[in-house]
Amino acid sequence: AVRVLTPKDLQGKRVLVTAGPTWEPFDPVRFITNPSSGKMGFALAVEASRRGAHVDLVTGPTHLPDPPFLSTHRLKTAGEMDSVVRHLAADADVIVMSAAVSDYRPEEQAPQKMKKTDRDLTIRLVRTPDILAGVGAAKKPGQVVVGFAAETENLIENASEKLRKKNLDFIVANDLTQPGSGFRCDTNQVKILDSGGNVEALPCLSKEEVARRILDRIAGLVKKANH
Ligand code: CTP
Ligand code: CA
Repeated sequence: AVRVLTPKDLQGKRVLVTAGPTWEPFDPVRFITNPSSGKMGFALAVEASRRGAHVDLVTGPTHLPDPPFLSTHRLKTAGEMDSVVRHLAADADVIVMSAAVSDYRPEEQAPQKMKKTDRDLTIRLVRTPDILAGVGAAKKPGQVVVGFAAETENLIENASEKLRKKNLDFIVANDLTQPGSGFRCDTNQVKILDSGGNVEALPCLSKEEVARRILDRIAGLVKKANH
């Protein structure tokens, strides 16, 4: 279904969206990452902008071009994303964290390209900051905070645990084992879990349509917060 008229229900609101993977390097030409394309986050940013929001899109490396009429901030690592998000979250009415942030990074980064030897190589990985947990913990009254959950098992249990732990208004749960879902796809089949314990199972939809459904909910929460 194509909507001819986009509701301007986020007029004047500041919306922060994260997208894409992060790259965690261990030498100048090698890094740890995941197959996130950034499509879901870019679709969310474009849709929020259509609805009249001032949008900051914070993204890891993707092949997608900067969308028009919004501010795109490009970076590589989880550490960089953490500092940009912390800075922008303070003034944001809405934060949607769809980036596939690497949970670990190599402890050390070699200054030059590493040479192979005849021995095996061990790379020690250390934790990156949980950016969304930080945003949730610092959540101001009226702020709307939304996360994603990428799972291969126990979708509802794992996603509801993340919803609670990270202090979210709702979470978009993605079953990565389902065809037509998640990484690199143009479609997504998700379940939305809210803080009231409700679960909405959406059919397989384009990422643009999933973005519209997510922003319908966000606009509803923003409206409630302003009353
Ligand atoms: N997230 C984040 N910072 C991280 C890791 C994840 O902000 N270092 C965010 C993601 O953007 C997503 C949510 O937290 O919105 C859940 O990410 P996910 O990888 O599904 O869960 P984790 O909490 O990282 O737990 P795990 O990977 O162990 O399932
Ligand atoms: Ca993770």
